[in-house]
Amino acid sequence: MSRDLPPDEFRAAMHRVADLVADYLEGVGDRPVLPAVSPGDVRRALPASAPEGPEPLDAILDDYLRLIEPNVTHWNHPGFLAYFSITGSGPGILGETLAATLNVNAMLWRTGPAPTELEERVCEWLARMMDLPPDFRGHINDTASSSSLVALAAARHRLPGLDVRVQGLAGRPDVPSLTVYCSDQAHSSIDKSAIVLGVGQENVRRIASDGAFRMSVPALAEAVARDRAAGRLPMAIVATVGTTSTTSVDPIPEIADLCAREGIWLHVDAAYAGAAAICPEHRALMPGIERADSLVVNPHKWLFTPVDCSVLFVRDLDLLKGAFSLVPEYLRTGESSEVTNLMDLGFQLGRRFRALKLWLVIRAFGVEGLRERIRLHCAMARDLAARIAADPRFELAAPVPFSTVCFRARLPGSPGSPQDQDRFNERLMARVNAAGPFFLSHTGLQGRHTLRVAIGNLRTEPAHMTALWELLSRSRDELVA
Ligand SMILES: Cc1ncc(COP(=O)(O)O)c(C=O)c1O
Repeated sequence: MSRDLPPDEFRAAMHRVADLVADYLEGVGDRPVLPAVSPGDVRRALPASAPEGPEPLDAILDDYLRLIEPNVTHWNHPGFLAYFSITGSGPGILGETLAATLNVNAMLWRTGPAPTELEERVCEWLARMMDLPPDFRGHINDTASSSSLVALAAARHRLPGLDVRVQGLAGRPDVPSLTVYCSDQAHSSIDKSAIVLGVGQENVRRIASDGAFRMSVPALAEAVARDRAAGRLPMAIVATVGTTSTTSVDPIPEIADLCAREGIWLHVDAAYAGAAAICPEHRALMPGIERADSLVVNPHKWLFTPVDCSVLFVRDLDLLKGAFSLVPEYLRTGESSEVTNLMDLGFQLGRRFRALKLWLVIRAFGVEGLRERIRLHCAMARDLAARIAADPRFELAAPVPFSTVCFRARLPGSPGSPQDQDRFNERLMARVNAAGPFFLSHTGLQGRHTLRVAIGNLRTEPAHMTALWELLSRSRDELVA
């Protein structure tokens, strides 16, 4: 075959794929969340070389059903409660399919008029949904890691007199060490941005957090003052709304005050919990986010949009363009002064049409539908937290502001050493995960092995949480016995 599929063949295959997708989603909850697969199994089952001749689509799809589908970790499973659990919802899957069909590269308005303008519009919708000020301008990246990198590059570009964009950083005695501040709970993507931007990992100040895992503002102020006194140049402060381990929220108003006093860029990482801002009662838990210079929220985390979709809002779009816009002759178009060319807003040229799936999700659920589900997730987390708090066999390890619960099982009788307790919790998690219907992950909190239940899947219902609680309690008792 040296041409694309004939229309009839394509239509038939697409119908089969529609059935595969619908069957998968209908039955995903009946599978174990984790596949019974060992490292190398899938690779060994695949031929070493590509086929020279064409293969029938039905045979390829049969292999998909035999080799691929059963051997993925099922992120769309109602019992997937690890990391931040997510959902590729039906409307989002339809959006992905249509985006793949159009295969638009929206690097320029000219190469994607509707994708560019839809992206601007859905980001405006999202800003309104989250009660962000109208001057926040959004665009879509693949991940929060990219969004934070772009934001911190803009922060670096704003530093006066350095002109890093043109002159770089290497071999310049006139450039002081740049420093970035975030809490000891911030995501590792901030360190990775520092690596890429030439700030260096050791110039990321990990500020201590308080007992509720919120960045300590006095410690932050002290670190900034110490760095200034040592001739270093503070570049950005990253506050997190919904930290990865416990979903704690940094005290943004005080951090924003400090940023304003010191002239430091404020980046807010709301990759997970930003979605909850669409509910007024949750938005009230994150005062001050409207003062950010940049803010990232991932619809692919908690807005039921398939991976990948990360929205970066910035206050000063011209500054972002100043950091990144670079237009070779072949990309010049006549309408540049009237339109947004998405390639000007970051380091990559090509852009997937990600706005389409977000548009389908927001329209198909309606904002009220999205709010309802986020509220249900938070209510399920509160219920689980209440069960844990009321049971002497377990203990809560952190407050539960959103839909993630951190906890530990207690050893009976004399508590044993922290190492004994850590091992006990490791074994408990392994036992629960081996049972099949649930997948939990862990984190370290104050040096202690801590289990997490992160609720974020559309299919997770209160009955699943009851079953999880029974499994946890039973597994704990069996381990003790
Ligand atoms: C708070 C926070 N920020 C950033 C990220 C990175 O997200 P991404 O995978 O979109 O880069 C995560 C991942 O879980 C996160 O929890």
